[in-house]
Amino acid sequence: MNDSSPVRADAARPAPTMPDAQTVTRVTHWTDRLFSFRVTRPRSLRFRSGEFVMIGLQKEDGKPLLRAYSIASPSWEDELEFYSIKVPDGPLTSRLQHIAPGDRIILRPKPVGTLVHDALLPGRRLWFFATGTGIAPFASLVRDPETYENYDQVILTHTCRDRAELAYGQELVRNLENDPLIGEFVAGKLRYYPTTTRQDSPRMGRITTLLRDGTLLRDLGIDNIAPETDRAMVCGSLGLNVDLREILEGFGLREGSNSAPADYVVEKAFVG
Ligand code: A2P
Repeated sequence: MNDSSPVRADAARPAPTMPDAQTVTRVTHWTDRLFSFRVTRPRSLRFRSGEFVMIGLQKEDGKPLLRAYSIASPSWEDELEFYSIKVPDGPLTSRLQHIAPGDRIILRPKPVGTLVHDALLPGRRLWFFATGTGIAPFASLVRDPETYENYDQVILTHTCRDRAELAYGQELVRNLENDPLIGEFVAGKLRYYPTTTRQDSPRMGRITTLLRDGTLLRDLGIDNIAPETDRAMVCGSLGLNVDLREILEGFGLREGSNSAPADYVVEKAFVG
């Protein structure tokens, strides 16, 4: 893993007059498909853990090219972190992957989203189901003390194609346990369940398969998922979201929203 991109993208620097520009402070390339980066936080920005904002770059014609990105950092941090896929021909990520510290990106400080505590009714156990970059909103939520105040047990599942793609989540959890601020909240409450689908690893398979055939609950020593106790947040591809909705409804959980909190919430992970 290297800490800064070798290529500096001129196009990654909006004109100084560009409104809502923030400065890149760190870039980490996890694999040839995945990278994370940190930017300065606008003073005015308040957000709830799990929300997303529009970020992007200025196009040749001066117009902004923006996409929705979940904020992966907790709301108490001075900087903002994002976790992204690199799509070779993706309009934004083909350029965004070349940002380097000191570059400026556009960030509209208007956070929104449904993967928030406010959209769930009180419960005892909270599930975070993520695939790929869908772990980003949960990287914020697992670092939020409210998550541990609200629930006795928090389970983060993360499914990726191969082991290297799990690295961001593994480092997140490792750092959490040793974190002086949040470590004491996390201890004994957070359980992490990584799986791979295209390469051997200690736990293999799609999370949907492992839920349907009982493997996940058996591995965790949990009898059942039930609306009386369990709440869930889901973030992944369209297919995952559709499949998990069906599974969670099968357990009797009902989908919630900011205006009508219920048992689970779903959001699509950024893909382009
Ligand atoms: P698979 O390898 O079987 O497609 P991606 O990198 O394409 O975003 O995928 C991330 C992970 O999500 C992969 O492990 C992939 O498994 C898994 N995945 C994709 N679609 C679904 C789905 N409908 N249900 C469960 N897991 C899925």
